[in-house]
Amino acid sequence: MSLFKKVDELRSEFKQALASNPALSDLERLKQKYLGRKGVINDLFKQIKDVEADRRGEFGGLINQLKTDVQDLIDAQVRESHSEEQASDSLDVTLPGVEYTRGTLHPIESTLRDFKRIFHRLGFAVAEGPEIETQWRNFDALNFPPEHPARDMQDTFFLENGSVLRTHTSPVQIRLMLEEKPPIRSIMPGRVYRNEAIDAGHYCLFHQVEGLYVDENVTMGELKATLELFCREYFGEAVKLRFRPSFFPFTEPSSEMDVSCFLCGGKGCRVCKQTGWLEIGGCGMVDPNVFKAVDIDPEAYTGYAFGMGIERIAMMKYGITDIRLLFENDVRFLKQF
Ligand code: PHE
Repeated sequence: MSLFKKVDELRSEFKQALASNPALSDLERLKQKYLGRKGVINDLFKQIKDVEADRRGEFGGLINQLKTDVQDLIDAQVRESHSEEQASDSLDVTLPGVEYTRGTLHPIESTLRDFKRIFHRLGFAVAEGPEIETQWRNFDALNFPPEHPARDMQDTFFLENGSVLRTHTSPVQIRLMLEEKPPIRSIMPGRVYRNEAIDAGHYCLFHQVEGLYVDENVTMGELKATLELFCREYFGEAVKLRFRPSFFPFTEPSSEMDVSCFLCGGKGCRVCKQTGWLEIGGCGMVDPNVFKAVDIDPEAYTGYAFGMGIERIAMMKYGITDIRLLFENDVRFLKQF
């Protein structure tokens, strides 16, 4: 067979192979077979010397042409297969869509946000402090006498170096009053720790929001009015507030505050244990001894403070019956909010 005819034959053989719509891997093999170093076209180049001298130029031109044609056709086919693959990836309209799951706010976080929003409108800034505190800020500066049983009352976690995990957010009051001059009006949200037996109503950590207002002539009447505004905004217009005399070392006078049960309207139900009232926190006028500890003149300034437990309030509001659910982070629980 003449070498010229061989070129024609290879060309039609190649076109046939390509017409069968080869997969990408087959295209790679075809490329090797025709264009590889030991491929059939290189073979032809080696045979140029066997062609009659006056036709060698013509023959060389033919195989060069064959080589570029093969190269172009393979390239085109490869490109086409790639775009077909992509098209079939993005255009299968029968596939179900990708489901995006959206997170929800943890009930503690959304309760904290509600508190911040309402107190912001009442003129309160937000202050925070560390969870590991000195005994001085957690107790002494707050007028807990040394060796006083009130320190035990709070079931404190003591650290080896003598610091404590704060048992309430009140040490942030102390930080604030040491840093700033009155007027001070701030809420202090945060985590607190108590070494308590864990059950449906108690956990070793929980959240409080404390409030502090210090200025000239701050009165208990303002404390009541502020908390009443807050409660009506948070629990609803119909809610009533009740103050019961109580004791805290850092306030004098002190009281415990209850809201009328917003579930039964005060008639008595399971959540308020038939009393019609729900306890939400403590409050009082800042004790002069606390002012002395932070170098604020108790003759010139007065102030009020209050503290509320977030878990307790969130549990009442969302009807959660076990505090531990709030810390386990089981998605089946969290998804409900
Ligand atoms: N710190 C108190 C507690 O944890 C709550 C409180 C704060 C009471 C401010 C009165 C004033 O029990």
